[in-house]
Amino acid sequence: MNLHQEITQLKKQKNAVILAHYYQVPEIQEVADYVGDSLGLAQKAAETNAEIIVFAGVHFMAETAKILNPNKKVLLPDLMAGCSLADSCPPEAFKKLVDAHPNHVVITYVNCSAEVKALSDIICTSSNAEKIVNSVPKDVPIIFAPDKNLGKYIQKQTGREMLLWDGACIVHEAFSLDKLLKLHQEHPEAKIIAHPESESHILQTASYVGSTAGMIKHVKTNPAKSYIVATEAGILHKMQQEVPQTTLIPAPAEEDNTCACSECAFMKMNTLQKLYDCLATETPKIEVSKTIREKAILPIEHMLELSK
Ligand code: 13P
Ligand code: SF4
Repeated sequence: MNLHQEITQLKKQKNAVILAHYYQVPEIQEVADYVGDSLGLAQKAAETNAEIIVFAGVHFMAETAKILNPNKKVLLPDLMAGCSLADSCPPEAFKKLVDAHPNHVVITYVNCSAEVKALSDIICTSSNAEKIVNSVPKDVPIIFAPDKNLGKYIQKQTGREMLLWDGACIVHEAFSLDKLLKLHQEHPEAKIIAHPESESHILQTASYVGSTAGMIKHVKTNPAKSYIVATEAGILHKMQQEVPQTTLIPAPAEEDNTCACSECAFMKMNTLQKLYDCLATETPKIEVSKTIREKAILPIEHMLELSK
């Protein structure tokens, strides 16, 4: 048996479910029970009957699944799979900001630690951020954290001024505007689509801005000869399966960026072998303390309720 078959067999034996993000390597996406964006993955984690959840994504995603399922085993193939955006918002510093603005509603992007979620009123993802912000009465001020690029985009969409945390994703901040415009000149027929974690000068070039699931839906429902895709390159696997006739071109990153490409080094820490090992040994496990969990579950449930 090959690794794929062994994982499938183990998964059945152990009543486990594999949830994978679109940024995972293709072979992980192919063995997963569900591949989705952050909101879809949280919704699947909330409704699964499986005894074990193997989260093929990054730490904050698996942590969210554990908060929703305290009595289940939640596994992450590589515990070091973190997120630059989550790291840009340390809980102690964030608590100071929240305490200094007691009249603000705290909306936090799901890309943050359980401790930061515990300090928040509502969680959002890139697919529901606009709806969540609009759910807050207009006269109530908002703190939006940790992604300043998503925050700026939502400010523009909703016309709401928000107090923004100064965080960003290293992958989405690495796109080069000059190279993108040059690429577009070489492919004038191509439409540009972008993830809202990208900087505003990149978003301004895009004919569509949305979450990973939103981008896939957009290319399916708006057939075009080619698309230039400004998000992590892992998305191209599922996207290409959905639109086999369309040419998909990854948006170019600056050469001197830390990852030198549009790949998320954290997402790519998970491999098929590590996925197998983690299912076989039922480690590494995600743990969240009861105190943090009891606070962090409230803004997550609030989001899930508003996203039905
Ligand atoms: P979505 O899949 O929710 O669009 O998020 C992208 C991302 O950066 C996840 O880390
Ligand atoms: Fe975090 Fe960016 Fe990687 Fe997503 S792509 S996990 S936001 S570093």
